Amino acid sequence: MPLHSSTNASSPSPYLSTDAAMLALMKRPLPHDHFPQHPSEPEMVYQILSEELLLDGNSKQNLATFCQTWESPQVHRLMDLAIDKNLIDKDEYPQTAEIERRCVNLLADLWNAPGEAIGCSTIGSSEASMLGGMAAKWRWRARQQAAGRPTDRPNMVCGSVQICWKKFARYWDIELREIEMTANGLCISPEEVLEQVDENTIFVVPTMGVTYHGLYEDVKAISEALDDLQARTGLDVPLHVDAASGGFLAPFTSPDREPWDFRLKRVKSINASGHKFGMAPLGVGWVLFREPEDLPEELIFHVSYLGGDMPTFQINFSRPAGQVISQYYDFVRFGRDGYAAVHGSSHEIAQYCAAALNEIDEFTIIHNGNPAHGIPAVVWTLGSDAEQGFTLYDLADRLRMRGWQVPAYPFTGELANRAYQRILVKRDFTREMADLLLADIRKAVAHLRNHPVVIREPATARGTYNHL
Ligand SMILES: Cc1ncc(COP(=O)(O)O)c(C=O)c1O
Repeated sequence: MPLHSSTNASSPSPYLSTDAAMLALMKRPLPHDHFPQHPSEPEMVYQILSEELLLDGNSKQNLATFCQTWESPQVHRLMDLAIDKNLIDKDEYPQTAEIERRCVNLLADLWNAPGEAIGCSTIGSSEASMLGGMAAKWRWRARQQAAGRPTDRPNMVCGSVQICWKKFARYWDIELREIEMTANGLCISPEEVLEQVDENTIFVVPTMGVTYHGLYEDVKAISEALDDLQARTGLDVPLHVDAASGGFLAPFTSPDREPWDFRLKRVKSINASGHKFGMAPLGVGWVLFREPEDLPEELIFHVSYLGGDMPTFQINFSRPAGQVISQYYDFVRFGRDGYAAVHGSSHEIAQYCAAALNEIDEFTIIHNGNPAHGIPAVVWTLGSDAEQGFTLYDLADRLRMRGWQVPAYPFTGELANRAYQRILVKRDFTREMADLLLADIRKAVAHLRNHPVVIREPATARGTYNHL
């Protein structure tokens, strides 16, 4: 086969080219520090970049992330259709605005809003939690001002939350009253919450699927304790539920569980990540408010829409539209039964993995992926680091040699000196993949047993995973 000297659509690879510009690009490094002066051959740049990205690791083996690592061909096509659409341009793309509106309505239904809930898409749960938090701060301030009370020391009460809440507290000057874990309490208890709340509490934030261990916090028990507090003292403390993962799991895989959503009157807002168990591609989250009055008017900005007015609430202005469109596709494509089937199988595979890991003498299972208790994740720890001759950080390192990303990290409070390890089971983690991972874990543990590691530092000093 002759070598071609120019690129065209039939050229299988730019490496076959003898074009001087192509070859020049192969022989020099890409610009790292200085903005390039000249253009380069697009196919060659694509080829070099796509190969550089192979160093990122394989997202299929990324069991650390809660986010989707597989998207359907239809979603890829919709994302392509929407690549040039800006979600903020409601007037220019009114149908996309309509699709976002429908998603909010469907979520209000899914989370049992009693009346006219309002909400919006966000870039993820982090932005959604900021918006929920801002609304709570503004509502609290108005209440305090109306009562002639000070407004300079707001606080929020929560358990061991994801970093987005630490950011929210720092950026918006809120005292974070984070109740850390104890040996007997991985989730916050109503009693602990009551000890922390006062008239400056803007809200309490229970989590449906705590990032560290995946368990659902008992929103109903906390809500009832706050009802009781209000009956005794008049203090009315609202709830915001961080349902980043659970918001797209609990309604489908444990529909009979105690209410955790807008069925509880005290729940004023909920956030969830569309790109986690909502199954949309990366870059979409949701925040919903129980009723319009739960989102203070001063926080709403108005953009023009079909010659009229569209209220918006978001931190960014320009945003990609494809994720919201894909989210709607998923809602229609799967429906409640489809979500229950897909996530149900993830829970099954998680429980299968938990049972197998439980057979390894050194491991103690903390969450086995049971849908009644939490999200489709498996979390475990070692009986005692010193006796095993290795830590979970060593195990994580060995698994990385096979490409698996299975983070080891500490919990909080009394459990901050112990290492835990976690896998998130998502829809592309098949039984076949599970068996391959389990075989690699068994081999890695056998190796570490035979080659004990000298442990000189406390487990927390080895942190390989720090974006909890
Ligand atoms: C409980 C919880 N809240 C919030 C977030 C942040 O979500 P996002 O990545 O969508 O911003 C996460 C992410 O893992 C989470 O687990």
